[in-house]
Amino acid sequence: MRRLCCRFPLSYQPFDCPEVFSASGTCQRMEITNVMEYEAIAKEKLPKMVYDYYASGAEDEWTLQENREAFSRILFRPRILIDVSKIDMAATVLGFKISMPIMIAPTAMQKMAHPDGEYATARAASAAGTIMTLSSWATSSVEEVASTGPGIRFFQLYVYKDRNVVEQLVRRAEKAGFKAIALTVDTPRLGRREADIKNRFTLPPFLTLKNFEGLNLGKMDKTDDSGLASYVAGQIDRSLSWKDVKWLQSITSLPILVKGVLTAEDASLAIQNGAAGIIVSNHGARQLDYVPATITALEEVVKSAQGRVPVFLDGGVRRGTDVFKALALGASGVFIGRPVVFSLAAEGEVGVRKVLQMLRDEFELTMALSGCVSLKDITRNHIITSSRL
Ligand SMILES: Cc1cc2nc3c(=O)[nH]c(=O)nc-3n(C[C@H](O)[C@H](O)[C@H](O)COP(=O)(O)O)c2cc1C
Repeated sequence: MRRLCCRFPLSYQPFDCPEVFSASGTCQRMEITNVMEYEAIAKEKLPKMVYDYYASGAEDEWTLQENREAFSRILFRPRILIDVSKIDMAATVLGFKISMPIMIAPTAMQKMAHPDGEYATARAASAAGTIMTLSSWATSSVEEVASTGPGIRFFQLYVYKDRNVVEQLVRRAEKAGFKAIALTVDTPRLGRREADIKNRFTLPPFLTLKNFEGLNLGKMDKTDDSGLASYVAGQIDRSLSWKDVKWLQSITSLPILVKGVLTAEDASLAIQNGAAGIIVSNHGARQLDYVPATITALEEVVKSAQGRVPVFLDGGVRRGTDVFKALALGASGVFIGRPVVFSLAAEGEVGVRKVLQMLRDEFELTMALSGCVSLKDITRNHIITSSRL
């Protein structure tokens, strides 16, 4: 394992660190100063198959890059001489009060990153006073995550061909105290992730998709392709359509967030079909390549929603400035995906806590330097998008 050295930036590590190390192989004096630095540490620590699964996007990874670059094209119009001695970042999501508008997106199979996996994420989210979304494909079950202690949690749902499986799972999530269902709608088939194909990606044999263990669907076969793509082809319902959003409402009283909306048309349909909220997401650029960055698609969705339901965003959020930009374009909050798995790999629960704290601190600073003291002060006039540059 490479020993990262605190004397050099993470991007330039000419030789192994001669200093003292933590068990993670990171020089103890290494100061992590931003969320993105965890990726290099995760890359050092994780088996290639796992790192590639977490990091990669679909096909040319154009959208993966664009999810970041589009944020960098948005500039600020800060206001000055406003008393910013007290900043209030508190947000309300579906009626739940959280400490900041930064939440955790569902990412599958977190025990590949760290033995504590989803437990660590759940504890870190709850310590930060924010929401964790648990993936259907978690390596810890809804009951196990609930047992980590109090916290507001959402459950992400993939709809299986066998609707009995879905019904059982939704009931278990309800019973375990999950507060909303994030219905992922951009995955009738798995996007073509070439790294996973080359690596013959599969869930390591010592782990299971814990929610499906008792249903004989918890294991993933090794194939000569991506094992996950084959699993999806076998189990996930490609015929999923708007009527199923109605069906889901008939089996649960939990609010439903439609995750994976990128157009005004689908935002209207989501609302017509009873969604309690919309998540503008391109699945971290892992599904259809050459869709716009989520921050680019956000405004048309917000306009279409006309304030009837809250609109959230995920995809490429790595800085407090990104959070501010999303809110200025009308988002009610954002979710983060990869920073969670990378920081988990580096430092377990401590890492996820640090990620949430760094984003919180950066967002607070952005608010102060833009002259905003509460979320409602953040407006479209605080930013310039490229069409207006
Ligand atoms: C490793 C990984 C696993 C993911 N697993 C799921 C999942 O199980 N269900 C889901 O709806 N989205 C999943 N996503 C998508 C995320 O919920 C989210 O949309 C995306 O990661 C946000 O982009 P970001 O990683 O740039 O923050 C996954 C993303 C990654 C990177």
